[in-house]
Amino acid sequence: MNVQWFPGHMTKALRMMREDIRLVDLVIELADARIPRAARNPELDELGRGKARLIILNKADLAEASVTELWLEEMGREGIALAVDSRDRGDMEGVRRAISQACRERIERDKKRGIVGRRLRAMVVGIPNVGKSTFINSLAGKASARTGNKPGVTRGKQWISLGDGAQLLDTPGVLWPRFDDEATGRDLAIIGSVNDDNLDMGELSAQLIALMDELYPGVIEERYGLTAAAGAGDEDWPRAAALLMQIARSKSLLRSGAVPDPDRAAALLIDDLRSGRLGRVSLERP
Ligand code: G4P
Repeated sequence: MNVQWFPGHMTKALRMMREDIRLVDLVIELADARIPRAARNPELDELGRGKARLIILNKADLAEASVTELWLEEMGREGIALAVDSRDRGDMEGVRRAISQACRERIERDKKRGIVGRRLRAMVVGIPNVGKSTFINSLAGKASARTGNKPGVTRGKQWISLGDGAQLLDTPGVLWPRFDDEATGRDLAIIGSVNDDNLDMGELSAQLIALMDELYPGVIEERYGLTAAAGAGDEDWPRAAALLMQIARSKSLLRSGAVPDPDRAAALLIDDLRSGRLGRVSLERP
């Protein structure tokens, strides 16, 4: 399956962001800790060139901690990188410190010019559904940004004030015109950054099963109480199809005529992965 999703509102959003970039000192880029490479938009990388940068690996609670550490090591070479669970306000203390660290250079420069107390402005960017609104709300300590799980919801320009005088600009989640390879599109689709209406969920679930077999063998069987042999598959009945039927049976996901429904099993599997019910998973390694 070759996933591509770049609707017109994203072109428009990118254009707006290119205009607004001159208003900010710092770009805070959120990436998903489960797919730190695929979740980084090359257009946003380009956008932030020449600005102070902070990379946040969000949803770290859903990724394998030891793999996230490896990613932080690698990304730390590019700039300041840290991993957070944005729903946890305790994690925002480190973010505040990182923001002032990232901006120290600008503060020093201002000082030399005799400018003190200039308001610091940052733009928060990332792919759809990466958790930008949750992050901003946690950082601001109040519900300032609009959250929602539907990727691609257009939002207008919003400045959010942090307690210390800094301001954040929320931006719409954006992807880019062409994913370099199929794995990038697949991974973005699996974590929920591509609108599901554009996806074949049966095929996506088969790809997820193949990926889990490679990275976390046995985890799916354990989650749904299946024996390892249940979805073994053979030439006529491939592994993914057999496994989805077993999940449908085990979870009583039926369609008319009381027949197990593999489509409902596929939807459940993907939903369980997204929400962490399959356990912490890191789909990419550095
Ligand atoms: P966006 O602005 O980038 O589009 O993302 P948003 O904050 O709306 O977050 C998308 C979903 O991701 C939300 O779940 C949100 O709760 C969840 N989320 C954000 N950050 C984290 C995190 O660090 N860890 C985990 N586990 N989840 C996170 P939802 O199901 O759409 O909404 P809700 O049911 O939580 O309200």
